Amino acid sequence: MKLKWMHWFNHKHKHLVVKFGVAILLMGLAFRLFLSTSNEFSPKTEAPFPEETGDLEQPIFVEFPQNEDQDEMPFPRKEAQKETHFPENTVDSEQPISRQVPGDGDQDQIPPPNGKCDLFSGDWIPSTSGSAYNESCPTIENPQNCIRNGRPDTGFLYWKWKPRYCEIPKFDPGRFLEMMRNKAWALIGDSISRNHVQSLLCMLSKVERAVQVYHDKDYRSRRWHFPSYNFSVSVIWSPFLVQAAIFEDFDGVASSEVELHLDKLDKKWVDQYHGWDYMIISTGKWFLKSAIYYEGNEVLGCHYCPKRNLTELGFDFSYRKALRFVMNFIVKSDYKGTIFFRTSTPDHFEGGEWNTGGNCKKTAPAKEGEVEVKEVNKILRGIELEEFPKAAAEASKHGVNLKLLDLFQLSLLRPDGHPGPYRQYHPFEQGRNAKVQTDCLHWCLPGPIESWNDILMEMIVNG
Ligand SMILES: *[C@@H]1O[C@H](CO)[C@@H](O)[C@H](O)[C@H]1NC(C)=O
Ligand SMILES: *[C@@H]1O[C@H](CO)[C@@H](O)[C@H](O)[C@H]1NC(C)=O
Ligand SMILES: *[C@@H]1O[C@H](CO)[C@@H](O)[C@H](O)[C@H]1NC(C)=O
Repeated sequence: MKLKWMHWFNHKHKHLVVKFGVAILLMGLAFRLFLSTSNEFSPKTEAPFPEETGDLEQPIFVEFPQNEDQDEMPFPRKEAQKETHFPENTVDSEQPISRQVPGDGDQDQIPPPNGKCDLFSGDWIPSTSGSAYNESCPTIENPQNCIRNGRPDTGFLYWKWKPRYCEIPKFDPGRFLEMMRNKAWALIGDSISRNHVQSLLCMLSKVERAVQVYHDKDYRSRRWHFPSYNFSVSVIWSPFLVQAAIFEDFDGVASSEVELHLDKLDKKWVDQYHGWDYMIISTGKWFLKSAIYYEGNEVLGCHYCPKRNLTELGFDFSYRKALRFVMNFIVKSDYKGTIFFRTSTPDHFEGGEWNTGGNCKKTAPAKEGEVEVKEVNKILRGIELEEFPKAAAEASKHGVNLKLLDLFQLSLLRPDGHPGPYRQYHPFEQGRNAKVQTDCLHWCLPGPIESWNDILMEMIVNG
């Protein structure tokens, strides 16, 4: 099988094979994980990770030449380490990292030379205050309600994100709502954006319960309103941000490749764009899917389409092109509000992927350098970190307020924050050996995702 694949590429295209291989290995994950889309929030529980693979191609194993052709790797190792903020060898690794909350005069309080604290690099430190809400928050959807589903350990709730050179105050729901009077927010992207919006609604529910005022047919896009503040929050289902025809049923079984138009924006968000005061856009993992790429309605090629006689272009090709297109629109859009570009966040499947027995059993955060960044995440992240600064420079020329919400690193350090088997209600009722589907991608609610809102608030209050 492998040989047959190799025929498709001549030697010059070896790097493509590498990328292709990585993508295929992870494709199963992408196929299912982001498909838990339909009945979200609706009382019915669904099975977004069905056991049967349906008409999915069996993932083909392509050998990944780890140490070969370093130069042809899309992101050379050195480069990737730099980009993912892993100064593995710069700290004395023998020295245990203190997990104490720093007191006054602690060296952690010394600001960095440029005077601006990097909110995205730091550590998780113990916190006694626990979560901002509990499992009774009505907007938590079942697969993320880990405590209600019977997750036995609660230690994962007692950590706080501590940037290296500053403190982030706790999210203040009353102040947030006051600041957002008569304003509108939108979180645009895939199921992680939905995960995020639920966390935000739960935090705000301490002050006022949001009223749902809109949902689409499949409950993928929704809007809530806080009546006392005339504040509205939308979540917009647009996993590619560009126009895509997706041929999948609710279980995520695809009858055909995604048809992705790399030069057309998804109307779902663009049509409402100027109506929002704040936007958080994000994308990423859906680009790993099997897809046919179009530009000017002409087929350019595809990613993982063995049945078709098309050029394999790699998911990195489409991700870069789509991201550039979206950013280009934004920077020239004359938009008056604030746009956050949220980086894609990693999964923590260990010992396999979602469908090959992968799990996430950790119960405490990791320290910097302890979690390995998977190749596919390096590739997505590499593209994001290359494209964003160019866009931000253009945006500031055009007076558009575009900010980076780089949650990758702090998310990477939370392998303990996922539902794992507790995406189902009491999964081990049938015995400890019951076959249970795990989720090491989305985040438990309550859980580490609340820190995302602490950071957002800090960015809004202090620029
Ligand atoms: C959860 O929070 C609600 C609202 O703050 C509170 O009324 C309830 O007692 C809490 N439940 C538990 C189990 O702590
Ligand atoms: C409520 O907020 C929207 C903007 O989100 C604004 O257009 C509208 O005028 C506001 N309504 C009132 C009564 O202030
Ligand atoms: C595949 O496409 C190439 C180039 O368009 C063409 O020359 C070739 O005949 C096609 N092969 C098949 C099996 O259709």
